[in-house]
Amino acid sequence: MNIETDFLVIGSGIAGLSYALKAAEVGKVVIVTKGEMNECNTDYAQGGIASVMYDPDTFEKHIRDTLVCGAGICDRAAVEQVVTRAPEVIKQLIAWGVKFDKEGTGRYELAREGGHSEHRILHHKDITGHEIERALMRKVKRHHNIEILEHHFAVDILTQHHLGKLVRKSTPDITCFGAYVLNLKKHEIYTVLSKITVLATGGVGNIYHTTTNPSVATGDGIAMVHRAKGIVENMEFIQFHPTSLYNPGERPSFLISEAMRGFGGILRLQNGKEFMHKYHPMGSLAPRDVVARGIDHELKISGEEFVYLDITHKDPREVTDHFPNIYKKCLSVGIDLTKDMIPVVPAAHYCCGGVKVDLNGQSSIRRLYALGETSSSGLHGGNRLASNSLMEAAVYADAAVRHSIGRIDGIELQRDIPAWDYEGTTMPEEMALITQNYKEMQQIMSNYVGIVRSNLRLERAKRRLEIIFKETEELYSKLTLSQDLCELRNMIAVGYLIIKHAEALHQSIGLHYSTDYPPARSNDNNG
Ligand code: FAD
Ligand code: SIN
Repeated sequence: MNIETDFLVIGSGIAGLSYALKAAEVGKVVIVTKGEMNECNTDYAQGGIASVMYDPDTFEKHIRDTLVCGAGICDRAAVEQVVTRAPEVIKQLIAWGVKFDKEGTGRYELAREGGHSEHRILHHKDITGHEIERALMRKVKRHHNIEILEHHFAVDILTQHHLGKLVRKSTPDITCFGAYVLNLKKHEIYTVLSKITVLATGGVGNIYHTTTNPSVATGDGIAMVHRAKGIVENMEFIQFHPTSLYNPGERPSFLISEAMRGFGGILRLQNGKEFMHKYHPMGSLAPRDVVARGIDHELKISGEEFVYLDITHKDPREVTDHFPNIYKKCLSVGIDLTKDMIPVVPAAHYCCGGVKVDLNGQSSIRRLYALGETSSSGLHGGNRLASNSLMEAAVYADAAVRHSIGRIDGIELQRDIPAWDYEGTTMPEEMALITQNYKEMQQIMSNYVGIVRSNLRLERAKRRLEIIFKETEELYSKLTLSQDLCELRNMIAVGYLIIKHAEALHQSIGLHYSTDYPPARSNDNNG
C-alpha cells in the first residue's frame, strides 16, 4: 500500500506533535508512531522546561549556564536560538492548553535544577511531560489535516538507494522521499511518500541495561540516518541521570527529579555523609555529569549498590505538594520520603548527540529534518543542561516548520519507489535469538561504554558488538520484519556509533570520561 502526504512526521513526543500542529496549517500531515501516541520520553519528563521568565534572570545567564554545562563545546548560535526563542514557545504551549504551575501572585512558579544559576524551570507538579503530551495530543487528535497512525513502525527512510542507485556518504544531494513503515497490527509494510519527512524518534536509553527511558527509546531515527549515509555526530555524549530510584528489576528505572535537589535534597553515602562537595562547589546541585561520576566513584570505593537522596529535612507538606508523583511512587515501594532517605543510582537518560542538523533542524539529507532528542543541534555540547531538551524540541520544531513550509511547493512526490520486497523471508522460529542478543547488547554497553570508559573497554565492546551485529544482520536478511528485530538492529548501530565516536575523542570532556585521558582543566569545574 502507498500513502501520500505533504509532511511525514515520525514520532509523537513534543518534537513531532509541535511540528505537526504547525505544519498542518499549510498541508496534510501523517504522524507515524510505533506505540500508542503517548509512549515517548516526553510523557515521562518530570522537572520541567527551562525558559527565562522574570528578573533577575536574563538570556545571558541562561546562555552562560548552557555553555558551561556543555563543557565549552556547544554551538553558540544554537544556544542563543533556543534560549532567546524559549519564552515565545512557552506562550505557544500555553495557548495549546499546557498548564504550568503558578504562585499565589499569578506569576509562574519557577524551579531550579543542576547547573542553573537561577530559578527558571516551568513545571506542572512533577509530571510536566505528561501535561505537555496531554495538551498536544488533544490538539493533534482534533486537527482535520492530521492523520495519526499508531502502532506503525518506521523501518527506513527512502532515498536514491531505493531507486537502485549507489549512495555513499560522499554522494551529493542525498534526498529523502518518505519511509517504509511497518503496520504492526497487520504485519504489512507501507511505502509512505512525502514531500518533507521529519524524524522525531526520541532517544536511545534502551541500549543500556539501566535507563529512565521507556521501551520505545531505541535510537531508530539515528540508525536510519546512519544507514542512509547521513551525518550523525556527538554520540559519545550519553547523559546518565544521577538519581533514578534504586529498585532492581524495574524497567524503566523511575526518575527522582533533579528538581528535588533544586528544592534542597542532599546526596549522602549510606553512612549518612554528604559527599558531593568533594567533587564540585555546587555540591548535590552540580551539573549532571559531575554528580553521576561522583556517585559512580563512591559506589566503586564502597562496593555498595546505591547512595541516598535526603529530603527529610524539608517541610513534609511542601515536599509532597511539589513532588506528589514521586512521593506516591516511593510510598508504593515502602519509602516515605518525608521520613526516609531515597536509595538512588545513576541511569542512562539522554542522548546529547544524534542526527546533525542546522539552525532550521535540516539534516545533511535533503527534505529530511530531525528534531528533539534524535537530533544534534549543538545546543547541548558535551553535556545537556537540565530541562533544556523539551525546550530544544519545541524551538526547533518551530524553526523547522518555518523553513520547510517555504519549500514544499516546488517538491514532487517520488512515485517510482518500489514496494517493500518480502521475498525469501520467513517467520522467526526462535524469538530467543533476538531477545538474547538484545540482552547481550545492553550488557556490553553498560559494562564497557558507561559513565567511565577506557580505550581497552571500548575496544572490547566493539569486538563483542561486532559478533552480535553479524548475527543480527543474518537474522534480518532471513526473517519477516518484526519490531523487536528492527529495534535490535537499530540499537546495535547506535552502540557502534557511540563506541566509534568515543574512540575518536582523545580527551575526557563533558559526558565522555576516559581513564586514558585526564580531564582538561575546564572540565574540573563542570565535569
Ligand atoms: P520522544 O518524546 O521520546 O518521542 C519519540 C517518539 O518517536 C515516540 O512517540 C516513539 O514511539 C516514536 N518512535 C521512535 N522510533 C520510531 C519508529 N521507528 N517508528 C515510529 N515511531 C517511532 N527533559 C526536559 O527538558 N525536562 C525534564 O524535566 C525532563 N525529564 C525527563 C524525565 C525522564 C524520565 C526522561 C526519560 C526524560 C526526561 N527529559 C526531560 C528528556 C525529554 O523528556 C526528552 O528528551 C524529550 O521529551 C524528547 O522528546 P522527543 O519528541 O524528541 O522524543
Ligand atoms: C529531571 O526532572 O531531573 C529531569 C530533567 C531533565 O532531564 O532535563
